[in-house]
Amino acid sequence: MCGIVAYIGPRQAQDVIIKGLKRLEYRGYDSTGIALMNGGLNVYKKKGKVSELEKSLNGFDLNSHIGMGHTRWATHGEPNDENAHPHYSATKKLAIIHNGIIENYSSLKEDLERKGHTFQSETDTEVFIHFIEDIYENEKCSLDEAVRLALTKVIGAYAIVVMSLDNSELLIAARKGSPLVVGVGKGEYFMASDATPIIEYTNEVIYLNDYEMAIINKGELTIKNTENLPLTPYIQTVDMELEAIEKGGFDHYMLKEIFEQPRSIKDCMRGRLDSASGRLILGGLREYVNTLVNADRILIVACGTSWHAGLVAEYFFEEYCRIPVEVEYASEFRYRNPVIREGDVIIAISQSGETADTLAAIEMAKSKGAIIFGVCNVVGSSIPRATHAGAYTHAGPEIGVASTKAFTAQLIVLNMIALIVAQQKGTIPQQKFLELLIEMENIPEKVEIVLKHNDKIRDIAAKFIDTNNFLYLGRGYNFPVALEGALKLKEISYIHAEGYPAAEMKHGPIALIDEAMPVVFIATKDSSYEKIVSNIQEVKARKGKVISIITEGDTLIPTMSDHVIEVPKTIESLMPLVSVIPLQLLSYHIAVMRDCNVDQPRNLAKSVTVE
Ligand code: M6R
Repeated sequence: MCGIVAYIGPRQAQDVIIKGLKRLEYRGYDSTGIALMNGGLNVYKKKGKVSELEKSLNGFDLNSHIGMGHTRWATHGEPNDENAHPHYSATKKLAIIHNGIIENYSSLKEDLERKGHTFQSETDTEVFIHFIEDIYENEKCSLDEAVRLALTKVIGAYAIVVMSLDNSELLIAARKGSPLVVGVGKGEYFMASDATPIIEYTNEVIYLNDYEMAIINKGELTIKNTENLPLTPYIQTVDMELEAIEKGGFDHYMLKEIFEQPRSIKDCMRGRLDSASGRLILGGLREYVNTLVNADRILIVACGTSWHAGLVAEYFFEEYCRIPVEVEYASEFRYRNPVIREGDVIIAISQSGETADTLAAIEMAKSKGAIIFGVCNVVGSSIPRATHAGAYTHAGPEIGVASTKAFTAQLIVLNMIALIVAQQKGTIPQQKFLELLIEMENIPEKVEIVLKHNDKIRDIAAKFIDTNNFLYLGRGYNFPVALEGALKLKEISYIHAEGYPAAEMKHGPIALIDEAMPVVFIATKDSSYEKIVSNIQEVKARKGKVISIITEGDTLIPTMSDHVIEVPKTIESLMPLVSVIPLQLLSYHIAVMRDCNVDQPRNLAKSVTVE
């Protein structure tokens, strides 16, 4: 949460930074600010989105070749101009941008107030820069040393960049717990929360690790850690096309990402799965595959949509591998002192690879000796670096806050892991294994077919834009899909929605059913088809409005539904990959028609780096 970007080099810094902030706006968007060295160290900031800041900059001479900017997701202090970043130090000779939380800021603030400091904002970040300056003045050391000393005394998470009025060729950055990437161009450097603001200029990047600092002074880059040990920069090449982070003619990133799924699913399987030869390989797992094969239990930790993918994976591992699985909310797991035994294996799932709760759960499980596998989308992010092994989902950048293509790619990777383990364990017949490989290769085409119903789904959506509540029901593999459909709707349209196992309806939610309650049934032809038909009848008997996701050719459910959306037939365990698509589109269209900002829903951020 919060996006940071900084630049030093021959270009106009504000151009690079404003563009970069727009790319990072998915991380937070309640206020924005920029610091430039244009005849002084000047800070411009504004409540609202980057476009608001941009408008407010009209008429200023912003000529500067160094600068930094920030887009905020509020933690300490409400979103307003004062709390927006950058923040000045007491003398206004230093400025800082910060992503993270300084947990001991109140005690630091009290000490500083005793020394006469006054603060303009309610933020922990302003305290941080005052603290750095206090050290700088008292220790009479270099600024980077003052920053380093301050970092050894703050508790919490940070990715920061500091600028100084006294040196217009200096940028100091550091990270712990919040991501920070340094872009290395020809005679220029970039810093950002992720690589998206950088790839337009260079694909050479350094992913800073926790407790590392990057200092760019007079064109020279130095990397060291907070213990003052110099480090050799490890420059990596990022493989990301500019087009992948632009809307490409779609009105919203979310819609683009929904429509990208046939391709992202293929990308996820490319080079890993080949049904013709029966080959299924995940390079990242090779070394640890026996650990999974011999696992007594798998614990899956994740949050949000990734947690829903984990629930589907529970069914995969139990069906194919006969390994018991528990799916845990990372935020609960990390604080529960869970029992982790020898023979337990953890799988952590995360699109961003930065989710604070998931990261903390991994660290906690590691400290208890567990082996951790990661399933992540963002290459080089913190979770893949904290795990023993893993597999990337290769879905490409997901920018819409509502996760769509990452979910289907997670399902593919988790299915592949389960199949590899099952084959090695001998718990899946070869015939079934091959059928699954063949059908996985058919999934992109089947998703394409569902996407063709977009207009019909938009028409259905139009009928429900004034609804206050929705219920989503599914059984078996489609139960996590029901949860995911409900999450999609509530997060972008602000309509209250609940997902339930269809059979649980009679234990409570049925009391809610009346003519004003739409119920989405994920009722594809599978082993619980007859049961879900009965559940639909129960809702109809109480006058609920039924929208059913059905298998093509089903003639029964349409007779008892108000609306149906067909999806192609597939193997039961793969059905979530197709049955989730109409739910993504339904929530998208309802949100657009309600005039909601689907890519940047209120109060949310793409990557939740606070607990
Ligand atoms: O990046 P992660 O997959 O770890 O993120 C987990 C959740 O924050 C995320 O899935 C969130 O629930 C999405 N907004 C759902 O669309």
